[in-house]
Amino acid sequence: MTRILITGSNGLLGNRLVEQLRARNDVELIATSLGADRRPDPTGYTYEPMDVTLEQSVTDVCQRFRPDAIIHTAALTQVDVAEQQPARCRILNVGAVAHLVGACAQFGIHLVHLSTDFVFNGLAGPYEECEPTTPISTYGRSKAAAEQLLRDSTISWAVVRTILVYGKEVPGGRLNILHWAARVLRSGEPVQVVEDQFRMPTYDEDLARACIDLAIKREQGIFHICGKDEVNIYELVGRVARHLGLGMESVRPVSSSDLPMAELRPPRTGFRLNKAKSRLNYEPVSLEFGLTSVLGPSVSGS
Ligand SMILES: NC(=O)c1ccc[n+]([C@@H]2O[C@H](COP(=O)([O-])OP(=O)(O)OC[C@H]3O[C@@H](n4cnc5c(N)ncnc54)[C@H](OP(=O)(O)O)[C@@H]3O)[C@@H](O)[C@H]2O)c1
Repeated sequence: MTRILITGSNGLLGNRLVEQLRARNDVELIATSLGADRRPDPTGYTYEPMDVTLEQSVTDVCQRFRPDAIIHTAALTQVDVAEQQPARCRILNVGAVAHLVGACAQFGIHLVHLSTDFVFNGLAGPYEECEPTTPISTYGRSKAAAEQLLRDSTISWAVVRTILVYGKEVPGGRLNILHWAARVLRSGEPVQVVEDQFRMPTYDEDLARACIDLAIKREQGIFHICGKDEVNIYELVGRVARHLGLGMESVRPVSSSDLPMAELRPPRTGFRLNKAKSRLNYEPVSLEFGLTSVLGPSVSGS
């Protein structure tokens, strides 16, 4: 039996981890997040409120539950907010990781830490794990700094970098890109979408499985985890429109230079997945499969 503690369990990835982990009979799950548990069916796991920015809170919870591994998903993930509130970003994205590293060192816990494609500037994607980080935003710099904390530590750790995560809606959570696209397409409200930012969107079920594998096997090092298809954001909205049988009349393709704060977003990220495939047998689903799982069957049947 492996005891796994996750942070940020109310979030997008956190919810998927709870669903996958509580279904396993070889895992005991401790879910933690800020404030109350927002899941409507809180069965099959223990929930404990834990603010990762408070060192004492992290130490107390780790001492009480003594997990074998922590999957750390909690973060400030909105790029624009991070830019406007750099101190808050640093406390949550770097300071919290320092607290977790301290607790992992004290109690011998393996740490699986979530990071991002935004540690790269997007001028040379798709990227391999060994390439140097080149962040261009406060968010990207904070995530790169957190990775450095792990490299400088003596604990057992894995970093999972991922890209534009999508999945089913979570209770009280932010809209992910697919639901945002579906909402604006249905409303017909005019919207501008960039066609010069390329990503390999990640299905949250694939990402959760990879994180769990890394936690249970205590795998170490950096792992790139994303989907298999590359699209620009305008194409992605177009795929959602086609899937739902909606028109794209209200969606105007624009370049990054037309939008504010576009310089914070790397033009082309994407990951090479050879390491994840060989070490974890990672095989992501296609974007088409992900769209159907999240939005239901395509109206065109394709
Ligand atoms: N989503 C993406 O497209 C994407 C892409 C690349 C990398 N990542 C990385 O993947 C990880 C998971 O992302 P996600 O999309 O699942 O994020 P998310 O949906 O924003 O979830 C993060 C969760 O952390 C919680 N949280 C915030 N502050 C906290 C605190 N002080 N203590 C404890 N919990 C706190 C949030 O609580 P509230 O819900 O109450 O605010 C939220 O539920 C992050 O590390 C992110 O940087 C995500």
